[in-house]
Amino acid sequence: MIQVNNLFKKFNNTQVLKGVNIKIEKNEIVALQGPSGAGKTTLLKSIGLLDSIDKGSILFRNEDITQFNEKQQCFFRNQKIGFVFQFHNLLPEFSAIENIILPSLIAGHSLTEAKKNANSLLSSLNISAQKNKKPNQMSGGEQQRVAIARALINSPKLILADEPSGNLDSKQSNDMFELFNKIRENFSVTFLIITHNNRLAKMADRIINIEDGKII
Ligand SMILES: Nc1ncnc2c1ncn2[C@@H]1O[C@H](COP(=O)(O)OP(=O)(O)OP(=O)(O)O)[C@@H](O)[C@H]1O
Ligand SMILES: [Mg+2]
Repeated sequence: MIQVNNLFKKFNNTQVLKGVNIKIEKNEIVALQGPSGAGKTTLLKSIGLLDSIDKGSILFRNEDITQFNEKQQCFFRNQKIGFVFQFHNLLPEFSAIENIILPSLIAGHSLTEAKKNANSLLSSLNISAQKNKKPNQMSGGEQQRVAIARALINSPKLILADEPSGNLDSKQSNDMFELFNKIRENFSVTFLIITHNNRLAKMADRIINIEDGKII
């Protein structure tokens, strides 16, 4: 699904990624761990085309996404991957369902179709009752499931998650991991998840460790 080859990235004069190589198979759930500042978020953003790279290649289903033009990049971000951020990054003025349908409308689907898909996600994530609430009227766990639904609305093949359990308690974190497993089974999705939580990392199929910009 994803193959990162000899990836280098620096900010100003600091070399952050120093020749990263990783390979992730379809349907795998992989945890990415390492000390603060090791380059985890930088790596995730590179794979999600949210940040440029200096050298190397990133193959997504054998196609080098770092060579994409602007239009291909937008299509990739909107249709092929879903991003889940630590603090959910939901739009505060929009209700749960409005947050979820946005990527679908951007993809050019009709409002009716977007709502239909959003409602089915809301129901499978058990948050139908929250659909008309704004983020500040929902619990952390509910907001997170809305963020996951938003990440899933365009049926991506890869979910990139940066500390998705960051502000959840241990019960909620467990539920989240169960949910990822369920999503993997139902929608055939591959996951790359940054987590500082060792217990959660052990629930993944595999752990990749990064230290000082290198995979160890
Ligand atoms: N936009 C930027 N400009 C300059 N330096 C940056 C930028 N983004 C990240 N860095 C630096 O790159 C290094 C790696 O950052 P990164 O965010 O990838 O770490 P991380 O492994 O995700 O850490 P954490 O666990 O704390 O989130 C850090 O030293 C950071 O200061
Ligand atoms: Mg980070």
